Amino acid sequence: MSNNFKEAFEKTRLAGSIAAKALDEVAKIVKPGTSTDSIDKLCYEFINDNGAYSAPLFYRGFPKSCCTSVNHVVCHGIPSGKILKDGDILNVDVTAFKNGWHGDTSRTFEIGEVSVKAKKLVKTTFEAMMKAIKIVKDDIHLGDIGATIQNHVEAAGFSVVQDFCGHGIGEHFHQEPNVLHYGKKGTGEKIKAGMIFTIEPMINIGKFETKILNDGWTAVTKDKSLSAQFEHTIGVTKDSCEIFTLSNI
Ligand code: MF3
Ligand code: CO
Ligand code: CO
Repeated sequence: MSNNFKEAFEKTRLAGSIAAKALDEVAKIVKPGTSTDSIDKLCYEFINDNGAYSAPLFYRGFPKSCCTSVNHVVCHGIPSGKILKDGDILNVDVTAFKNGWHGDTSRTFEIGEVSVKAKKLVKTTFEAMMKAIKIVKDDIHLGDIGATIQNHVEAAGFSVVQDFCGHGIGEHFHQEPNVLHYGKKGTGEKIKAGMIFTIEPMINIGKFETKILNDGWTAVTKDKSLSAQFEHTIGVTKDSCEIFTLSNI
């Protein structure tokens, strides 16, 4: 790997570890009675205390430091006074900006006891992301990633959101390429060692269609079915990839 790759990987590793640690802190406070604003406050403070910035804050006018997406919210939920209740599922998405580089990660948390169906959705979404990460290496096609996710998710009877995708990441929060979470093996651009991007499938119990609420951000499932998401930032190597946003718990 060239020196340039090495520097990019080192910087993303640091930003990614701060983002992952922020989620490890979030994991300790997500329970019935917690407000999504208190999660935002924790993310803001934790990331600042680690000498980084929360990239979502003021990004294209986004008003908060993380995204909190509850139940049928697919992504980009805005933290508010909303109180979590037993049986909810909640995705928290954080992005740390450190020394000019980004690390982006999200997890879906189960609040108290959730339904069997919700548990299956969350598990299937995590598995789909990890299965895709496991096939990543130099010279595969982007479509191989999409196909791996889509096959796993549809076999479980769920659907893959098409309106949002993973993305290249580095000195910019969102850059080329678009990483679709559906597709056909052997299609699309080839990925190369040194590339850094996210894989962040959003999976619905019902249909895949989404719509944006009047706040201009919150994306929800059109049929109001539950939606889950996980996200890692990864760097491609010759034979596999490095996950920069692994949890430490
Ligand atoms: N973190 C999200 C992603 O995975 C992007 C959030 S943009 C924001 O790409 F403005 F909503 F924060
Ligand atoms: Co992302
Ligand atoms: Co994200």
